[in-house]
Amino acid sequence: MFVLIWTTLLFSVRGITADAGAAVKEHCDNGFCITLSEGEITAEAGLCVVIPCSFTTASDFRPKHMVWYKCEPYQRKCVDSDVILHTKNNNKVQSGFKGRVSLLEPDVSLRNCSIIINDLTESDSGLYQFRVQESGTKNGFTFSLKATVSVKGLTQKPTVMIPPLTEGQQTTLTCTAPGLCSGSDPKITWTWRGAGEKDSHITGNITAVTQRHSSTLTFNPSAEQHGTDVTCKVSFTNSITTEETVTLNVTYVKKPVITGMTSVKEGDALNLTCSVESFPPAVITWTKPDSNKNVIVLQNNTRTAALVIVNVTAEYSGRYICTAKHQITTLTTPAEVNVKSDQHGPSAELPWIIVAVVSLIVNVICIILLMFRWNTRKKVKPNQEDRTYMSLRKTDQSPEYDVIARPLN
Ligand SMILES: *[C@@H]1O[C@H](CO)[C@@H](O)[C@H](O)[C@H]1NC(C)=O
Ligand SMILES: *[C@@H]1O[C@H](CO)[C@@H](O)[C@H](O)[C@H]1NC(C)=O
Ligand SMILES: *[C@@H]1O[C@H](CO)[C@@H](O)[C@H](O)[C@H]1NC(C)=O
Repeated sequence: MFVLIWTTLLFSVRGITADAGAAVKEHCDNGFCITLSEGEITAEAGLCVVIPCSFTTASDFRPKHMVWYKCEPYQRKCVDSDVILHTKNNNKVQSGFKGRVSLLEPDVSLRNCSIIINDLTESDSGLYQFRVQESGTKNGFTFSLKATVSVKGLTQKPTVMIPPLTEGQQTTLTCTAPGLCSGSDPKITWTWRGAGEKDSHITGNITAVTQRHSSTLTFNPSAEQHGTDVTCKVSFTNSITTEETVTLNVTYVKKPVITGMTSVKEGDALNLTCSVESFPPAVITWTKPDSNKNVIVLQNNTRTAALVIVNVTAEYSGRYICTAKHQITTLTTPAEVNVKSDQHGPSAELPWIIVAVVSLIVNVICIILLMFRWNTRKKVKPNQEDRTYMSLRKTDQSPEYDVIARPLN
């Protein structure tokens, strides 16, 4: 049990040390202690920096006001003109820092002296010193341990969020400025650049809405916008800017376009090309619905499919369809192919002879049928002579009569 508690304790202590980054340094002097970050605190121009700080005082000291200074490395102690924050007298603050520095915890009794400095410039690099005062301005303590801040040029870029873009479906892009500080809001602007074009403002129905650290751009993507660049530029105070450019991918598909000769002579080659403009590439196929003949597609790269039939015959005439399958969309374009016969070849004369012969036969059959029908209509009401003839014929033909007649012989 004891071992278990000990181990838990050990681990929790380690955890705390790790969380603090082991980069905290405490310095005590006459019962006044200050805890600051060990080493340099780095930040970027245009953004903000937090100087984490906590202190304790001698038991008889009643802390009332907090003062922060910024001074040069050669100064052993900062002076009044170096004040950047003063909880009692704001007039003492250097003009360059007015409104840029604030306490994270204004309640002095919590002994939390952490500050945030906004709208940084590289000249904010340097040493920062803390002083705590009692009610009377003279009675105070200045800690000798200083915090070191280093401000470098801005390298962070805005974050541009792009949802999947589909032609005709309204969409919203979001650009978020780097560094979330409570300082001045950055200015966020959007620019659009087509392939090989100059910067321009986006055409169409576009709404840009900026809220503190982010801006949204709402528009209706079009096929023409595929492959174009959109830039989000974030401008902080002191002309510090950063930008991010993204290339738009707009999902779109256009109707297949068929090129080539649809009217060919028998024996020649039929060669049609179907092109489909889309992103991402569509699946292109050629079909001939009224035939079970295989349609020969020579190549099917991402944009075109060629239909090639060498040495066509009349049976290749008819409707061919080029189909583009693109995600949930299917688009088709038909082509009417007409294979013309060669007028002087034997293959051209033969069908005419067949047609002539067949029509002649059909005519003859029709005439015979008509005549036969006309005859039978005439015999519907036979006269007396005919009846006699018929009964005679019947008597002659009756096999029963033959059988009865035979014994009489
Ligand atoms: C000081 O106050 C800030 C803001 O409330 C807090 O985030 C920070 O942890 C505090 N620091 C200490 C050492 O308590
Ligand atoms: C622009 O979009 C808004 C909101 O979607 C719509 O009400 C308006 O009619 C659109 N204007 C044009 C010119 O398309
Ligand atoms: C756009 O599409 C290309 C090719 O499919 C891809 O490499 C690129 O990452 C895409 N860009 C975005 C912003 O989605």
